Amino acid sequence: MNRITVSAPGKLMLLGEHAVVYGHPCLVTAVGQRMYVSISNVKSQISNVKKIRIDAPGEKIFGYEKPMEDIGKGEISKGVRFIEIAVRNFREKYPFDVGLTITTRSEFSSQFGFGSSSAAMVCTIKALAELFSIKLSKKQIFDLAYKTVLDIQGKGSGFDVAAAVYGGTLYFVTGWKKIQPLVVGHLPLVVGYSGVKADTVTLINQVAEKAKKYPDIVENIYKQIARIVDIAKIALVKKDWTMLGELMNINQGYLEALGVSTGKLSAMIYACRSEGAYGAKLSGAGGGDCIIALSPKENITKVKKAIKKVGGQVIDIEVNAEGVRME
Ligand code: PMV
Repeated sequence: MNRITVSAPGKLMLLGEHAVVYGHPCLVTAVGQRMYVSISNVKSQISNVKKIRIDAPGEKIFGYEKPMEDIGKGEISKGVRFIEIAVRNFREKYPFDVGLTITTRSEFSSQFGFGSSSAAMVCTIKALAELFSIKLSKKQIFDLAYKTVLDIQGKGSGFDVAAAVYGGTLYFVTGWKKIQPLVVGHLPLVVGYSGVKADTVTLINQVAEKAKKYPDIVENIYKQIARIVDIAKIALVKKDWTMLGELMNINQGYLEALGVSTGKLSAMIYACRSEGAYGAKLSGAGGGDCIIALSPKENITKVKKAIKKVGGQVIDIEVNAEGVRME
């Protein structure tokens, strides 16, 4: 029996969410909290049926089992969907004939919106490649993982997959157009969790409805967000935090206009701003999950307190984490 363990980082969207789904750029950073996936091949099983077994404690899934021939078919538990479809897609491309035991361990809650499913899926593909001695480039891992996202969700830019594979801080354009690593050092970010789990696809659909009703307005918002991202990229590399903060605030205004902020997110955002953050905005699809605030060092304690005061939870993170790697 071989056992391979691989890890990949979670992610935080910095700027450009929603517009990125429609071909505009975004900025994303990989966070220090990681997802770990261990895979063993099971050669001789008692019966002749080769099975996949998944334990994902973070999703409260223990002993999920299926014959290998049935993966991707029938009932698929939500908490293991990305892993199961990733295995199916890998096996279709690189056939193998053994059973698998897969175990996940996460350093962050799947509720935060840090991209636990994407990170687990990327780890699974990398671990399978190692297990079967198949050399896959980062680009090949990204391609297979992004295909898996589209198979499951039908939509999504793949920015989270890029962060899990490449790590660091990226300027990302969907459709295999651009994954550009940026040289960024420490980022003085504070993260506040709203306590509400957001469903990305629901939010994407809500925005799509708005775009159907007001096509030119929404298209113009996307264009403005794209412009913000392009200027923010320069501010980020130059470490011009005042400008980056301002751009985050403007981006938040457009996200409000798209209707994806909530009272709780806005309360945290305004609390951070009034305690001296350079800027603050929601991060990700909206509807819940997290906000990010960029804050001068001397105000960080006040900003964190402000988040807690309005009922948010502060999550300490490191940015620019390394992409998928063998453990
Ligand atoms: O909900 P999250 O944190 O995975 O972020 C979604 C960001 C979107 O732009 C709305 C969707 C996407 O796939 O880019």
